[in-house]
Amino acid sequence: MSDIRNDGSAVAGSAAASPGGELFSEERSADVVAASFADTPDSRLREVLTALTRHLHEFIKEVELTEEEWTTAIEFLTATGQKCDPVRQEFVLLSDVLGVSMLVETINHRAGGGTESTVLGPFHMVESPERELGANIALDGKGEACLVTGTVTDPTGKPLPRALIDVWQANEDGFYDVQQPELQPERNLRGLFSADDEGQFWFRSIVPRYYPIPTDGPVGSLLAATRRHPIRPAHMHFIVTAPGHRPVTTHLFVADSPYIDSDAVFGVKESLVRQFPLVDDPTRAAELGLANPFRTVHFDVALLPLSAAEAQGAGHVDLEDRP
Ligand SMILES: [Fe+2]
Repeated sequence: MSDIRNDGSAVAGSAAASPGGELFSEERSADVVAASFADTPDSRLREVLTALTRHLHEFIKEVELTEEEWTTAIEFLTATGQKCDPVRQEFVLLSDVLGVSMLVETINHRAGGGTESTVLGPFHMVESPERELGANIALDGKGEACLVTGTVTDPTGKPLPRALIDVWQANEDGFYDVQQPELQPERNLRGLFSADDEGQFWFRSIVPRYYPIPTDGPVGSLLAATRRHPIRPAHMHFIVTAPGHRPVTTHLFVADSPYIDSDAVFGVKESLVRQFPLVDDPTRAAELGLANPFRTVHFDVALLPLSAAEAQGAGHVDLEDRP
């Protein structure tokens, strides 16, 4: 803005909210309020607050917000805060359904030849148990059996041995283990795998089901009022890490899942959608210890090398080194 110097200090005689400065007016409201942040020592905080003020005022002027609407907005945000507790974060949910979570994620993790990222989601709340390659993470044996395979490489295709693959997913009814502690075994459908010397990983699981995000709070009311459904298409969560490379937090989406084109949190990226072909091969099924027929899916993951700056202080922990 013209009346704030690059160093953030207010230019003498410019608009300011301090005594003697420019008084508030409809026309100059954003400038007057933005100028009040001119002495903020933290330049990033000043930049963010100034831009926030400008966009917020522009938005209110564009829609000519009524007092009743303002009250409704305050009550909505109050209710959103009051819905939060140690296991429920309604503000994150609000960020999700407004596409803010995905935008922040996308801006901060531009793929650049690596596997695209997507939202972490709220269900990585417990540590995935270490499992051997090939293990079956469907501890209760319920659901349509699926063999998951893939290779972790760099963007040139060079394998990354001992990459860590952290996986978690919903069951055939669309629930995570932590949502059904009475019904599902602890750490059901979760696993932490260490890739082999060729960067390959494989494990057994089931095909996950689509599921709704929580709708019993203000965000659910928002979705209902706007005739939006709360469903996320079927997916498996992955966090993949390897020494010297940028970790990726991503999903593997089931291609033929309902709602694949209308994820409530906008998490779907085309590059992350895979077919889960059906295999009818009793011999192979018996070898794998799976019911026949079974599904398969292949998901290769490419990690970007860390820049020199990123490499400093970035740590990778091998399974053997974990506490
Ligand atoms: Fe999920």
